[in-house]
Amino acid sequence: MQKVKGTYDVLPQDSSQWLFLEHHIHNVMKKHHISYVRTPVFEYYDVFHRQTEASDMVTKETYDFEDRSGRKITLRPEGTAGVIRSIVENKLIAPNHVLKTYYLGANYRYERPQKGRYREFYQTGIEMIGDKDAILDAELIQIAYELISKLGIKQVVVKLNHLGDHESRLAYKEALKNYLEPFKDQLSEDSQNRLSSNPLRILDSKIPSDQALLKDAPRLDQFISDEDQKYFQDIIKILNTHNIPYEIDTKLVRGLDYYAHVVFEIQTLIEGFGSQNALGGGGRYDNLVSELGGPDVSGIGFALGLERLLLACELQGISFEDSNHIDVAVLHLDKHLKKEAYEIYKFLQKNNINVDFDFSNKTFKTQLKNAIQSNLNYVIILGEEEVANNTVQIKNLKAETQETVKKEDILNYLNKQLG
Ligand code: HAM
Repeated sequence: MQKVKGTYDVLPQDSSQWLFLEHHIHNVMKKHHISYVRTPVFEYYDVFHRQTEASDMVTKETYDFEDRSGRKITLRPEGTAGVIRSIVENKLIAPNHVLKTYYLGANYRYERPQKGRYREFYQTGIEMIGDKDAILDAELIQIAYELISKLGIKQVVVKLNHLGDHESRLAYKEALKNYLEPFKDQLSEDSQNRLSSNPLRILDSKIPSDQALLKDAPRLDQFISDEDQKYFQDIIKILNTHNIPYEIDTKLVRGLDYYAHVVFEIQTLIEGFGSQNALGGGGRYDNLVSELGGPDVSGIGFALGLERLLLACELQGISFEDSNHIDVAVLHLDKHLKKEAYEIYKFLQKNNINVDFDFSNKTFKTQLKNAIQSNLNYVIILGEEEVANNTVQIKNLKAETQETVKKEDILNYLNKQLG
């Protein structure tokens, strides 16, 4: 049996990095008073397949199926739509209130797997619903940046763009289409297909000949109202004040269709990262809440890809504290002493010592060899004599010293040694 294409296992030897990363995310969110929300991995088909959403991700990459009662179901390809569905269904939106929530979980997209791109992948994201304000937008971008930079990841830049409102985007789409139509034959096959369905996505094309054709194309920023331009400038001023490294990229349109106004992507320039260099992205959406049955309020959000954050850490040599670290192992000299050794293990565990115990019936020699290989600092050894005298031997494996310690003093002794 093999794992499904595009998925991966987190093996015991690698899992501490994941736990560390998840812990880091929960800590940053807590600091910003953002509450955790958890929604199902699958939703009714219509939550994602909305009329206004013609993105490739939703039309070509979702895992859709019927359940045994014939309900149409979709595995979530992203977190936002499900979270908004939940917020609306549970009536969490109140007037004059900004609801701030975050999530962390698996998503599913039928994409071509490659480095940093999987069919099951993890995201953490924030959605802030209820107000449209440049301060809020700048705050959200700063939190996304903080989540990345506090891990120690360098060479990161926030790419920013403004898509304008619905009307200006429609006008721009039309202008771009009219401009590209005469060059249709010279466009790549993908871009030709997008010309009628979603011309904005042509701006995203990585094909050099497409980019050459776009050189003199009308620019999105020329279509944006003065009010929106000012709004965008207000965001930029705040980012400047707080030294967030950003670049304005007028070709950044993002993969989903619900965005309006500001959009951003946090990209890494780390060598060896491959073409999937977006650590995360997001933007504002005006109509998503109402499309999912809620009031007419605006929201803004982003999501970061956890696999890509870990890859960035690996490539930059950032080592995580080993959250699965063990300081001490309790060993027994003979099988019939195992029960007594187990009680010492439980006692230390209850007293917050990172302690291990070998549940198999290995010989003492093998237990010790395993402890040395696991890079432990101390082992507690229990033999006949120790049991008779109510003592244990504590061996410092690094210093290669050994002391007899009374049973009631073990905790004190270890706490002192482990600092
Ligand atoms: P997205 O840009 O589609 O946005 O995904 C966000 C991040 O998820 C990407 O930048 C990338 O790091 C990671 N990601 C996406 N697809 C994959 C994949 N196949 N394998 C590994 N990582 C991947 C969204 O999902 C929006 N919901 C973000 C958002 C929230 N906008 C508003 N609120």
